[in-house]
Amino acid sequence: MEIQITRAGSGQLKPKPADESRLGFGDIFSDHMFLMDFESEKGWFNARIEPYGNISIDPAAMGIHYGQEIFEGLKAYRAMDRGIHLFRAKENFKRFNRSAVRLCMPDVDIESAMEGMKKLILLDKDWIPKSEGTSLYIRPTMLANEPHLGVRPSRSYVFFIIIGPVGAYYKEGLNPVKIYVEDKYIRAALGGTGEAKAAGNYATSLLAAEEAKEKGFTQVLWLDAAERKYIEEVGTMNMFFFIGDEVITAPLTGSILPGVTRDSVLQIVKQWGMKVSERSLSIDEVIEASKNGNLKEAFGTGTAAVISPVGQITYNGEDHIVAGGKMGELSQKLYDEIVAIQYGTKPDPYGWVERID
Ligand code: COI
Repeated sequence: MEIQITRAGSGQLKPKPADESRLGFGDIFSDHMFLMDFESEKGWFNARIEPYGNISIDPAAMGIHYGQEIFEGLKAYRAMDRGIHLFRAKENFKRFNRSAVRLCMPDVDIESAMEGMKKLILLDKDWIPKSEGTSLYIRPTMLANEPHLGVRPSRSYVFFIIIGPVGAYYKEGLNPVKIYVEDKYIRAALGGTGEAKAAGNYATSLLAAEEAKEKGFTQVLWLDAAERKYIEEVGTMNMFFFIGDEVITAPLTGSILPGVTRDSVLQIVKQWGMKVSERSLSIDEVIEASKNGNLKEAFGTGTAAVISPVGQITYNGEDHIVAGGKMGELSQKLYDEIVAIQYGTKPDPYGWVERID
């Protein structure tokens, strides 16, 4: 694939964050972006890297009106030896194409999209932060841009990748978060779009999250749509519970996001010889385990958050403190293991890391 590169002029270059210890998530973007266009008669064309900036969208663009928008989230890391690492990047692009199928959008050629991403990262490599706990967040996105108001799949799309330095996703960092078990609203039903990384899933989650935030919670824990009984996910993370000697996470039945970090955790704990189950887990079982002292830990997993320990679960007006409100041993060990592989401070027995520079 030929990629046209237009470099930002020296007057367009932005100042890099002065203090990496204060990086939050999702506000700072590098100097360039990758784009390509799709038309049904032509396929993908016009692959290019340009200075980061506004893109022009017709106000009748179908993605704005009917929500054909999908995205991914992955990271590049400045390794300890100063190399640049990607972590399981291909998995994100495969998931992107699965999301595209669900939303009636065209798939991308994974090798070409990854080539565009790598060129962009290398061009803006000085934007990759160097301190511990920081990384370069990568956001591939596709939006329907045909100007048309009838409801049908769009015939044209724009694909772009933007990148920017990030620190911790939650303001808590690695400190445990408080989660509210949502029993009024639902995120996704079986047969819906829950397993796609579609913008609409996030819009659906906002009201519950805002109400929970007002009550002092970081996130909501979604239950299944049919019975409001089984654990689903947190919306920005998949969830794991360590009960007795079993590490449990919800199965991929179609309503939750198949997380790359979720899969990595499953592989690691299996490798450690622990008992691990992808099974339906009711909120009643979690609360029961909490009451009888069997709930050892709960934590979320996600690209943005990595491992986020849960210190409190609130359900039916009752607060349940998990792991004494601290980061549990397993959560810490998993965080250390994943981060060590990502930054290359430990060998990568899984072949997850790709070095691009
Ligand atoms: C990620 O973990 O990368 C995500 O995309 C979740 C969230 C920031 C929307």
